[in-house]
Amino acid sequence: MQDLIALDAMRAWSRAEQVRGRRVALVPTMGFLHEGHLRLLDRARELADRVVLSIFVNPLQFGPGEDFERYPRDLPRDRALAQGRAVDVLFLPERAAMYPEDPAVRVAPGAMGDTLEGAARPGHFAGVLTVVLKLLAIVEPDVAVFGRKDFQQATLVRRMAADLDLPVTIDVAPTVRELDGLALSSRNAYLAPEERRSALALSRCLRAVEQAWRGGEASATALARRGLEVLTQPGVIPEYVALVDERLQPVVRVSAATVAVVAARVGKTRLIDNVVLGDGVAGDVAVRS
Ligand code: PAJ
Repeated sequence: MQDLIALDAMRAWSRAEQVRGRRVALVPTMGFLHEGHLRLLDRARELADRVVLSIFVNPLQFGPGEDFERYPRDLPRDRALAQGRAVDVLFLPERAAMYPEDPAVRVAPGAMGDTLEGAARPGHFAGVLTVVLKLLAIVEPDVAVFGRKDFQQATLVRRMAADLDLPVTIDVAPTVRELDGLALSSRNAYLAPEERRSALALSRCLRAVEQAWRGGEASATALARRGLEVLTQPGVIPEYVALVDERLQPVVRVSAATVAVVAARVGKTRLIDNVVLGDGVAGDVAVRS
């Protein structure tokens, strides 16, 4: 595994690999890696001959008062984990190279970026799509792998690639959870032990919605109400429970393709989770961490 920092060195490496007929995969992350990220690397390895892992805590996608400064960072640990997953290049662009000045032009996500997470975090998805587009333009991968854990993000990235005719395949890999259901997230590191227990309310909420749906309830309003009941626990401040289609539009009657999405605050930490009803929480990947 080699580290690359300069943007032009990264692009030159990818091009040299592609000239030799090798497919390059990119897994963009903000670091503080966990098994969810590592499964994306495994997926990338299946889809391509070379795997690039980028680590860049993107200031553009954090709002004022959000956790950019205190976002967890541990490069030596990330490097060891990446090495264990046979990453070829660890791409570590510097902030000054990525943003020599505040970008005047940003990717506008449109209405799909204004709902759910976008409603709670104005400008967040413009920041995400802008950095993802930049990373795609620098690495020029054949395929880029994202996690379904961030369902709205993955949907918007797919849509950006389609709408802008980007010459890349976007692959979306299943959510990785701990054995008790908690979806892995770098932000789980913020949770005190008691908060960690409260955080289980999110996956329990999704399971309750799924069970009610399997029991025959097809009204989105009734299912969201059921989810909210389970989410509302001491120590948990619910933000939303919603049932949406693959375009993030609210549905009235749900189907197997409907996605239940949830967001809540546990202490100071904002957590999100989702499940495709037909796949169920059990359809995700469970790991001991
Ligand atoms: P980050 O939160 O580090 O996540 C990097 C990738 O890992 C994303 O595609 C995310 O969906 C995926 N991921 C996180 N937790 C996961 C889990 N439990 N199971 C499966 N996949 C999981 O998402 C970002 O960074 C940034 O917004 C980024 C796309 C890198 C742009 O800055």
